Amino acid sequence: MCGIVGYIGHREAYPIVIKGLQRLEYRGYDSAGIALYDGNNIKLSKTKGKVSDLKDRLESEISTDGTLGIGHTRWATHGVPNDVNSHPHYSNSGDLVIIHNGIIENYDSLRKELIKRGYTFKSDTDTEVLVNLIEDVKKNEKTKLGKAVQIALNQVVGAYAIAVFDKNKPNEIVVARLGSPLAIGIGDDEFFIASDASPFIEYTKNAIYLEDEEMAIIRRGKDIKIRKIKNDALVDPYIQELQLNLEQIEKGGYDHFMLKEIYEQPDAILDTFRGRLLSNEAMIKLAGVEDNMKKFLAADRIIVVACGTSWHAGLVAEYIFEDLARIPVEVEYASEFRYRNPVITEKDVVIAISQSGETADTLAAIKLAKSKDAFVFGVCNVVGSSIARETDAGAYTHAGPEIGVASTKAFTTQITVLTLMALRLARAKGTISSSEFRHHLIELETIPSKVEEALKSDTYVQTIADIYKDATNFLYLGRGFNFPVALEGALKLKEISYIHAEGYPAAEMKHGPIALIDENMPIVVIATKKGHYEKVVSNIQEIKSRKGKIIGIVTKGDKSVKDLADHVIEVPETIECLTPLLTTIPLQLLSYHIAVMLEKNVDQPRNLAKSVTVE
Ligand code: M6R
Repeated sequence: MCGIVGYIGHREAYPIVIKGLQRLEYRGYDSAGIALYDGNNIKLSKTKGKVSDLKDRLESEISTDGTLGIGHTRWATHGVPNDVNSHPHYSNSGDLVIIHNGIIENYDSLRKELIKRGYTFKSDTDTEVLVNLIEDVKKNEKTKLGKAVQIALNQVVGAYAIAVFDKNKPNEIVVARLGSPLAIGIGDDEFFIASDASPFIEYTKNAIYLEDEEMAIIRRGKDIKIRKIKNDALVDPYIQELQLNLEQIEKGGYDHFMLKEIYEQPDAILDTFRGRLLSNEAMIKLAGVEDNMKKFLAADRIIVVACGTSWHAGLVAEYIFEDLARIPVEVEYASEFRYRNPVITEKDVVIAISQSGETADTLAAIKLAKSKDAFVFGVCNVVGSSIARETDAGAYTHAGPEIGVASTKAFTTQITVLTLMALRLARAKGTISSSEFRHHLIELETIPSKVEEALKSDTYVQTIADIYKDATNFLYLGRGFNFPVALEGALKLKEISYIHAEGYPAAEMKHGPIALIDENMPIVVIATKKGHYEKVVSNIQEIKSRKGKIIGIVTKGDKSVKDLADHVIEVPETIECLTPLLTTIPLQLLSYHIAVMLEKNVDQPRNLAKSVTVE
């Protein structure tokens, strides 16, 4: 996936576009480029590397004046990251310039067809094919840019958010979307285009989110015309007021977004249950669940579809839903589910979990489930995202923008929403007594302050990080509710420090991974007091007798593990099903500090992107 930004209005476009690209770098950062138009000349600069590399190069390469500009930050799909494959791309005549986020699946046949007609290509990208297809249609049909874009897109298979302009039309940008997000900010006689609203939040709070298969012709100083790409029908623009503010998308004094987001968790969890968890009235209010209670109560089972960290949150949900609400739950990787002809009926409830709401595999899994008449419920963070719109109902996590590529507050707020859902359904089904229910609500309310307390381990976690930062492998073990936390801890370490790590259910260790243990292997064991504590202590004994280095995550005041482990990190006590909200905190901090000590790019780890909008 990639990030796209554009501006047309009365200001200089360059500062807006470059800053916008910096904010969208979480979407991809292997190359970047900008095209500016001053009414006479198009000035284009692009490079392999980050937006900061582009800035250095562009400012010495071209003049930055012009009140129309488009920019792109790339996560390569077709063609390796290099200068030539970077966007924007010119058409053969040099009249049209395009930026694109997505994949044109039939690009190869279109390319061959265009080559037959005399077109040549500089890059390996599908995007250069698209801009030449538009040019070809424009020439052959003798039509304006907007119409040419529409006709061309009707020949395209795949996903896209595009912005394209024509040298002969200095007051117009044409944009379109299918499967990749595109927001249009509406200012006073000026318009902003971006993959999300963060690039234009300081200029306007009014935005239109294009729907799939819509395109818009944006004219300087005039209004916007939105049309359906397929049938040309005019669409009434729906202008939303944005809730985002500038502070939320800046680092606020932290060295990295990841650390800021780790520290935001007490507030984020509070925001997640604000107005939903009413402990005085012993109630949980979740409109999406309430309105569809019959569907949930009639469900034979719940199927969770998600990827990465969101999949781990789904695994925690499996334990919580089955324990509290006694509903069978299956947790599926969206990427597997979508391609394996799964058995789905109208009696299934599918819960799709996604921070970004744009993950391509999760979206495809939702579409599959809907085609089989299952009821699909979304748990998303990004308001108005594709998944939020594609699902039948849902609940937002309200975590605020998560910019660090490694998910942190998204995970804990997803678990919070899923716990609220499980508790509400348990109450409705009568699988939990009113006193237990009330007890869970009261305990859940204490979680933000307990997360705050867990964060106090930070300095000690840094000491541990320093001791083990040069290890080449880590094992993470947990049981029950904390098995998915072990998986999540291992994923966090892998993705930002590039150290190999594996998460395992603690008891599975003796079925294979135990062979890996020697005096060089650090093993993080989640051993909180509730649940299978004694069993985990036995697992720790087994590690100890093989000289593994033990880092225990324990309940405050624990003695047994302290006697056995090399290090223990304490978290406050809580009821068993809520422990993942606390045990995950030191694991996030451990991976963060190791990555910082190894001088890795914590917020933008290599090869990754914040949301994976391609399969
Ligand atoms: O936006 P989503 O929650 O759908 O994203 C799913 C995964 O791509 C994401 O959780 C990924 O695994 C993170 N980098 C993990 O930190």
